[in-house]
Amino acid sequence: MSHLVTAILALLAMLSTWQWVRAHRRHRQLAEAQAHLERQLQEAQKLAALGRLTGGIAHDFNNLLTVIIGNAELLSEGLERHSPLRQPAELMLHAGERGRELTQRLLGFARRQTLAPERVDVNALLKACRSILTTSLGEAVDLELHLAPSLAQAYVDAAQLESAILNLAVNARDAMPDGGRLQVATSNAAVSEEGLSRAPQLRPGRYVRIVVSDTGQGMSDAVRRQLFEPFFTTKEGDKGTGLGMSMVATFIRQSGGHVAVFSEPREGTRVHLYVPCRAPEAPEPDETVTDVTARDAS
Ligand SMILES: Nc1ncnc2c1ncn2[C@@H]1O[C@H](COP(=O)(O)OP(=O)(O)OP(=O)(O)O)[C@@H](O)[C@H]1O
Ligand SMILES: [Mg+2]
Repeated sequence: MSHLVTAILALLAMLSTWQWVRAHRRHRQLAEAQAHLERQLQEAQKLAALGRLTGGIAHDFNNLLTVIIGNAELLSEGLERHSPLRQPAELMLHAGERGRELTQRLLGFARRQTLAPERVDVNALLKACRSILTTSLGEAVDLELHLAPSLAQAYVDAAQLESAILNLAVNARDAMPDGGRLQVATSNAAVSEEGLSRAPQLRPGRYVRIVVSDTGQGMSDAVRRQLFEPFFTTKEGDKGTGLGMSMVATFIRQSGGHVAVFSEPREGTRVHLYVPCRAPEAPEPDETVTDVTARDAS
């Protein structure tokens, strides 16, 4: 009898320890989630301030460029074909046009463009983008599309998604100067209630996951940490504005999704985009996601 009592007491003790450990773990997860949300809020406030500043400058600068470009056009048209001043005038025009492209990108970033989400068949979108992707990647990079059958429809701004994928492809190309392979894969994914504490930025529900992987030079920890910062670039001269990844992250976050990046130096890079679906008629997910947090953006 006393053995039975001892056994029951031991069991109760074990149970209460287990409950304590569970409560403790839950508490820690909640604290981590809260800290993460606070960091995100600070980041959003910083971005909003930067956006306002950038927008103001880009807008005024654009007006000045319009005057410069207009006059450079008049000048080069008015010059004789063989005039020694013709080339400088054309260079001026070219530089002005590049400046205009840059200010357009800045304005796009500052505006936090209004999104027009719609039901999107991501597989069809990727197939339609194939030729523009191949052209942007150049001959040295092979493109592979791995499209999941019965992929759920995403609910997202199609034009923005296309430009996000193009941004990722161009980054991948730049990371593979000697050539390599770019894979774009789609799958259905779900974030469950349990997975939520690890990915507080995502609401439980179904997502279309797009994984863009390259066989390029990869990133150091330092680069990966700054990856989503506006104007962060490792590219020299006027090769990069450092706005690509911050625009991708801002757009995906605004769409209710999530970006996770996995990369090691010389090991290539994988960018996971989670794009939300409208749940009702989404098919069963291929996989339940429990860990989407590594090196994340949103
Ligand atoms: N696939 C990748 N492989 C290796 N490094 C990458 C990759 N994608 C991004 N990076 C690094 O992150 C930096 C920031 O990328 P981001 O796209 O924001 O700007 P950028 O490519 O430098 O310029 P922009 O896109 O504005 O022309 C890059 O300069 C590069 O160092
Ligand atoms: Mg880029």
